[in-house]
Amino acid sequence: MNLRRPLMAACGCLLLVPALCGLSGCDRDLDELNKPPRIHPGGFIVRPYLQLGDDPAGTRSGTIRVVWQTEDVDVDWSVESNDGSARAWRPAAAPRWRRVAVDGVLPHRVHHADITGLRPDGAFAYRLRRSGEVVFTAEAAGPKSSLLHRVAIFGDCGAGTAAERAIAFQAYRERPDLLLIVGDIVYNRGRITEYRRKFWPVFDADAASMAAGAPLLRSTITVTAPGNHDTAGRDLNEFPDGLAYYLYWDQPLNGPTGPDGGPIVAHLAGTEARRKAFRDAAGPAYPRMASYSFDYGNAHWTILDSDAYVDWSNPEFRAWVERDLAAAKNATWRFVAFHHPPFNSSRAHFGDQRTRLLVDVFEAGRVDVVWSGHVHNYQRTHPLTFAVDRTPDGKPARVADKVPGRWTLDNEYDGRTHTRPRGIIYVTTGGGGASLYDLEQDADPGSLQPYTEKFISRVNSLSIAEVDGPTLTVRQIAADGRELDRFVVTKESPRPLASGR
Ligand SMILES: [Fe+2]
Repeated sequence: MNLRRPLMAACGCLLLVPALCGLSGCDRDLDELNKPPRIHPGGFIVRPYLQLGDDPAGTRSGTIRVVWQTEDVDVDWSVESNDGSARAWRPAAAPRWRRVAVDGVLPHRVHHADITGLRPDGAFAYRLRRSGEVVFTAEAAGPKSSLLHRVAIFGDCGAGTAAERAIAFQAYRERPDLLLIVGDIVYNRGRITEYRRKFWPVFDADAASMAAGAPLLRSTITVTAPGNHDTAGRDLNEFPDGLAYYLYWDQPLNGPTGPDGGPIVAHLAGTEARRKAFRDAAGPAYPRMASYSFDYGNAHWTILDSDAYVDWSNPEFRAWVERDLAAAKNATWRFVAFHHPPFNSSRAHFGDQRTRLLVDVFEAGRVDVVWSGHVHNYQRTHPLTFAVDRTPDGKPARVADKVPGRWTLDNEYDGRTHTRPRGIIYVTTGGGGASLYDLEQDADPGSLQPYTEKFISRVNSLSIAEVDGPTLTVRQIAADGRELDRFVVTKESPRPLASGR
């Protein structure tokens, strides 16, 4: 099997735009193929990390899924948890596993076990036994049912940079309940080999430090949205270990889907054997796990696939988002997250405006904040409403990926003294570790669009969203820990729940 030639050809093509793609290290990616993975003590290729699993109820059900990866060997695994309520370790559900056997990577297993019945609002410990012997123990934030919780959010991270490690460290310092990565999780093509080199070692570091990263994944439930780099390996002839997003993340499967190559799902390219190997390894996650929703505390999260192959004007896709938001009407907060920002002032990716096509749905669904990445800096808009320009027959007047229209800005909202926005706030938080975009615009406010209230492009950063009942406080934290921005959103206090007998 000669993998070298097509891989090099693909890299050479995309290297035409290195500034935007952050392409580098293609030859190193080649070298990683067919290499045995590093095995951590206890027999892990990837040590345990926490997921929602296919549970749209989020942590309200008191369940958290533990996922880990090992070599393809038969070993007796078990998981136990202890949340202090019974003063004893309780067995989790029996672990299950899927085999990942794709060309270019040694076969390995992705295991999972559900820890159920966790006590709300407390920490818990869990441990794994391998053939009866305890080989891994960690502590984690428990499920939140109360009104206070904290979410760390960034995109565009897994580039193998010092900035990525610093962002992981800063996120860990915040002790979030939830970590959300808004796409471009791993560069350059979301491959297994790239996860192993540029993602797991940073977010599953043994100890927390600016230089190394942090043991974030074992202690924090992580949810992800697919970005363009995460799905760029979908030609399995060129990248047999591509689309690792669907192999390694374990998230709700309640989103819209459709046929291969249709308006919602990209065409999966490759020989029949390679497509079968990938589908067997991904199981039900492919293709459905691209978009989904879940509840966390008093917030509802809608995660969408905004990659170019998805037609955001497709009626089924729109209808699913409408239904999802309508069903969440009693949540105090409705947040939507996807990779490509609708309202961006960077020169980079300015024309990527496809996601404006659903703004009317977001507004009707009373979304509070939309979170995106893709653009490698931090941007926050004024609260705004948007009416897309339409052709005489009523369709959006779209020109390629540009979606012109009229925005109305709430300029009174300042996030400090005026905290009740009229409109949706759009946050771009794409400074998770990849090379930054448009540094010169940081000192050039005249270059920004009128809807942009805050623009910080000279430093990598992440968002910390703290939900405390009817109050949302968002802080933007730089890679060195400085606070770059802060804004508050408040609502009327939630009405007490009706009670009776
Ligand atoms: Fe991107």
